Amino acid sequence: MVGKYVLPGTGLQYCCCSTSICFKEIASQQFKSTYFTGHIGYALVPMIARGAMLGPDQPVIINMLDIEPAAEALEGVKMELTDGAFPLLRGVVATTNVIEACKNVDIAVMLGGFPRKEGTERKDVISKNVLIYKAQASALEQHAAPNCKVLVVANPANTNALILKEFAPSIPEENITCLTRLDHNRALGQISEMLGVQVNDVKNVIIWGNHSSTQYPDVNHTTVATGTGLKNVRELVANDHWLSTDFITTMQQRGAAIIKARKQSSALSAASSACDHIRDWVIGTPKGTWVSMGVYSDGSYGIQPGLIYSFPVTCEKGEWSIVQGLKIDEFSRAKMDATAKELIEEKSLMP
Ligand code: LMR
Repeated sequence: MVGKYVLPGTGLQYCCCSTSICFKEIASQQFKSTYFTGHIGYALVPMIARGAMLGPDQPVIINMLDIEPAAEALEGVKMELTDGAFPLLRGVVATTNVIEACKNVDIAVMLGGFPRKEGTERKDVISKNVLIYKAQASALEQHAAPNCKVLVVANPANTNALILKEFAPSIPEENITCLTRLDHNRALGQISEMLGVQVNDVKNVIIWGNHSSTQYPDVNHTTVATGTGLKNVRELVANDHWLSTDFITTMQQRGAAIIKARKQSSALSAASSACDHIRDWVIGTPKGTWVSMGVYSDGSYGIQPGLIYSFPVTCEKGEWSIVQGLKIDEFSRAKMDATAKELIEEKSLMP
């Protein structure tokens, strides 16, 4: 879907494009019940319309793109958005035309893709996504606003973002990112549950690497606000074994656990974390806090330049910067390299 927004005092601007193409559902003949990108797009649009992505003072126009067989359903979503009477919503475009969807957008949230399923070869998925992302990259490059920010959600998210970058060379590399905020938020949730504290009191987890089962959730720099000041999470959890084993595997398998329970992948948490990702990128991260974003590696922390890799970042004035100088122990080094290795393999499958 695509939207438009007005930054305070700047007049109406276009924003927010994302597509909901979901070839997976089409391939399995289930698209009639799950199109409009299954469920992430359906969960995301009311959040954008309520200001969760761009703030409570930011009017938006949302453009939604879907494939032809979903056109009627897309109209239904448009009707629902009208019926929601969202005060910030200044317009909705429902289209199957990628150029119309991308026209002048300032923010693009890419939900569509061909995800890997049991029995699917990674290289097949990547070549299918090349076809999808090639068209969208070129539409964004030619028709989006000059400084359009792109968030890729569809899996394999890091490599899809890289594909998009390759096919849209004129979009600055710092404007193309992928979603690992979902994993970041999951880690905050796990720690807050473990300690019985408010999720908001837990800060600065890190997701390194790929949004996949090789991701490395790192809590070595994570703090918890307590009545007696900020405490390191390792000190409070007092269970290094859990932090180095079950916590990590729970995080790595969380997406799969949700699919097993829901019989479809995460939607509301994915949509909510996409809003968090864009909000912090556009509006800025709170002082003293970083978030995880899949961004173009500049070689920081010894990660091969040119991968889209999840790092801890701070954001200010619409720009992200990788947090520098964090101490990396041997355990973390090995995990960070293992997830980088997977991304290098995925990259090597790109044509
Ligand atoms: C998630 O982490 O919930 C999803 O990326 C899982 C999936 O494969 O769709």
